[in-house]
Amino acid sequence: GPDRRTPTGAETLVTRDQVAQQGKFLTTSTGARLRDTDHSLKAGDRGPTLLQDHHLREKITHFDHERIPERVVHARGSGAHGVFVGYGNAKPICRAGFLARGKETPVFVRFSTVLGSRGSADTVRDTRGFATKFYTDEGNFDLVANNIPVFFVQDGIKFPDIVHAGKPHPDREIPQAQSAHDTFWDFVSLHTEAQHHTMWNMSDRGIPRSYRTMEGFGVHTFRTVNQQGETALVKFHWKPKLGVHSLTWEEAQLIGGIDPDFHRRDLADAIESGAYPQWELGVQVFEDTADETFQGIDLLDPTKIVPEELAPVQPIGLLTLTGNTTNFFAETEQIAFHVGNLVPGIDVTNDPLLQTRLFSYVDTQLTRLAGPNFNQIPINRPHAPVNDMFRDGFHQHAVHAGVAPYKPNSLDGGCPFHASGPRDGAFVDVPVRVAESVKERDVPVSFADHFSQVRLFWLSMTPVEKQHIINAYTFELSRCYEQAIRERQLLALARIDPELCAEVATGLGLPAPTAEEALPVVEASPALSQLGQEWPTD
Ligand code: HEM
Repeated sequence: GPDRRTPTGAETLVTRDQVAQQGKFLTTSTGARLRDTDHSLKAGDRGPTLLQDHHLREKITHFDHERIPERVVHARGSGAHGVFVGYGNAKPICRAGFLARGKETPVFVRFSTVLGSRGSADTVRDTRGFATKFYTDEGNFDLVANNIPVFFVQDGIKFPDIVHAGKPHPDREIPQAQSAHDTFWDFVSLHTEAQHHTMWNMSDRGIPRSYRTMEGFGVHTFRTVNQQGETALVKFHWKPKLGVHSLTWEEAQLIGGIDPDFHRRDLADAIESGAYPQWELGVQVFEDTADETFQGIDLLDPTKIVPEELAPVQPIGLLTLTGNTTNFFAETEQIAFHVGNLVPGIDVTNDPLLQTRLFSYVDTQLTRLAGPNFNQIPINRPHAPVNDMFRDGFHQHAVHAGVAPYKPNSLDGGCPFHASGPRDGAFVDVPVRVAESVKERDVPVSFADHFSQVRLFWLSMTPVEKQHIINAYTFELSRCYEQAIRERQLLALARIDPELCAEVATGLGLPAPTAEEALPVVEASPALSQLGQEWPTD
């Protein structure tokens, strides 16, 4: 069969311990040679087993602690190694070295579902994660993306709410990973800013054909900086070379039963057979204006897209996945992504969802990967040299030399002043103007429109795609126990589109809400109104 060893990246992770099991003899974890790992030490032929058997205790104890907590979201994932090559054309807006023309940067990508547990099926209707770690010469850059360009909530303070509503019911842990349940529909029908993301989930985007045929979206607007210090606002996109393809609902049901690992297998098989999947990284670029809007669309609102007709996606580099993992735990499980892992040239914006994410990832990894040293785990180690003053802590693997991990100091070569280092090559936070007073916890007016982009998405669908969306809403809502929740979601659909609402209502055997019952839709930005019904999504 084909060589299962991966050509890129993974070799660096293979350690002495991983090959030991193939040697002539086994040892304890402290290196003493073992004669027998099959029988415990007993008093007499048939026991009792003796506490004195160190190898038995060590073997069972280690086994007892093999599991670490799964991720609180995106627990089910599949990863691969690859390479990113820059096209060089991003230079006018971004000084990040890995985007330079022809520059090759190793990457690790982890695809995931969001809601299911680590052992759940790949084929469920859900959002998919598409997280990429670029091991650049200037440090790790993580693009922690999804396959849907908008998010359920505008403010990170609502993230636990949507996740609690989307995860299986707390009483019986049903259903695993599907959106067919009361708590999900309860939340999205009440918290209507979630309707845009929900419609993408109900569309064919919610059941991808393959990880290889998924788009990826950074969702938030980021701020880039060029060599001259000039800034731009960008949205990141991954475009699959194979195009975007989905399963039909019937296919997803059949495949989910026959092969719940369908996407994981598809990715691994493709790479193993040399059919390396590829994506172009692209950016939509916007002028960094004081109000951070584009043609009336608030660029800090993560429930909104900017249609590609208004701001085309410009390709700036190519990602190729070339290597399967050697050890799923060491690589796919232990990788730790973080939206704050940025490199010079790429910075964050005030998007209130992104701001919360900046806190959340490291915080969760402190528990999931047990302590503050998880960046020393092989898959997380930067390929750039590390020189920090972080010391000790659980799972410290470094043996730091010297006595002066502090500044200023006069030892270890001396660093007598609080002197700043050179700006060249350093990450320098972009100075941005912030409000002069703390505001009430109000929603900005520009975030108030929850429906117009959902309507545009619906109107951009072909008749077949529309039918799939109607079927999806009808099926998922039919699985709710509470009639009031179904009725409330119909009200939300009425605000999106009367035809969609009527079709789903008929499917559910319920009356469609009247026009009076459906509140008026908030005005869309002028640019969106001009697009009318002709707005395609691809
Ligand atoms: C994973 C929090 C929004 C994409 C995670 C994890 C947490 C988290 C705690 C688990 C990380 C780990 O255990 O290593 C949040 C919070 C959000 C948010 C608090 C909003 C405030 C988003 C958005 C996206 C996204 C908007 C997409 C643009 C991902 C992906 C993963 C992930 C892809 C899986 C990473 C992996 O494969 O290891 N998120 N998230 N998240 N999140 Fe978010």
